[in-house]
Amino acid sequence: MKQIDKPLALPIQKIITESERVKTFVFEYDFPGGPGQFVMCWIPGFDEKPFGIIKKDGEGFRISVAAVGESTKAMHMMEEGDLLGFRGPYGSVFTLPEDGKKIAMVAGGYGMVPLSYLAQEARKKEYEVHLFIGARNKQELLFKEWMAEIGALVHASTDDGSEGYKGFNTDLFKSNAENETYDKVYTVGPEIMEMKIAQICWEKNIPFEVSLERYMKCGFGICGQCSVDPTGWRMCVEGPVIDGEALKKIAEFGKYHRTASGEVQKYPWIKE
Ligand SMILES: Cc1cc2nc3c(=O)[nH]c(=O)nc-3n(C[C@H](O)[C@H](O)[C@H](O)COP(=O)(O)OP(=O)(O)OC[C@H]3O[C@@H](n4cnc5c(N)ncnc54)[C@H](O)[C@@H]3O)c2cc1C
Ligand code: FES
Repeated sequence: MKQIDKPLALPIQKIITESERVKTFVFEYDFPGGPGQFVMCWIPGFDEKPFGIIKKDGEGFRISVAAVGESTKAMHMMEEGDLLGFRGPYGSVFTLPEDGKKIAMVAGGYGMVPLSYLAQEARKKEYEVHLFIGARNKQELLFKEWMAEIGALVHASTDDGSEGYKGFNTDLFKSNAENETYDKVYTVGPEIMEMKIAQICWEKNIPFEVSLERYMKCGFGICGQCSVDPTGWRMCVEGPVIDGEALKKIAEFGKYHRTASGEVQKYPWIKE
């Protein structure tokens, strides 16, 4: 696949406000990249940060960004016509099953970015797509209308019960998986959510893939910042999409990650 290694400055063609916390930036350029891959985005005057790529039919490409810190808040202040720099695409892609056409996707937060792109590609190949989207409230259920339009079966869940099931999408998926047989499952979102889905899939022997995010600096395998223990796999090259069997070898999954300085940070649910 073609790769753009030197930052390419592109004007923002369109900005869509998806929710209070998420904005989508659309670009006319036909950037390469498959579902699960990401770009390194240079935000002038701030930093360079990784974002999942979406290639919606009939468009160049888009990224959807949650405002969480300095760079992403600066992006939310930008206007149409302003420039952002891109290199990539980097990382591994999701793969659709060859023996079976029924798949499930479990997404939390901006996990819907790579999974919406995957759902679009899967629907084109006539896969039956069950999508379990979880959010704090109705307003934050990303891309629900788009997913319904392409014929994905949307199972929404919200923390406050403002839409769909009141509670976690992991619980909704678990009870659904008692009666449904999926050929493959995909999950992207907070690591505690991914961990619960991984446990269900391991127990039920369902093939699955997860996108495992780690702090990224270079984005293409040189600095070692995003390596995981004990395999040393770089999540910007061997990941972020990891197969469920390979995931068993990543001992830090669900336990800890490394900060920008490389310091180990345990997740709050790990007590010892
Ligand atoms: C492969 C990958 C794909 C991503 N896709 C998306 C996406 O589609 N949409 C989206 O909103 N966000 C995505 N992110 C997360 C996004 O990169 C961070 O939210 C962003 O870098 C925050 O920058 P900041 O300056 O606003 O916040 P900061 O205050 O710098 O950081 C806030 C938090 O964001 C995370 N973060 C910050 N810098 C990085 C970095 N260089 N690499 C990884 N995580 C970082 C850390 O958890 C940090 O605690 C993705 C991350 C990765 C690794
Ligand atoms: S971010 Fe540098 S090796 Fe992955």
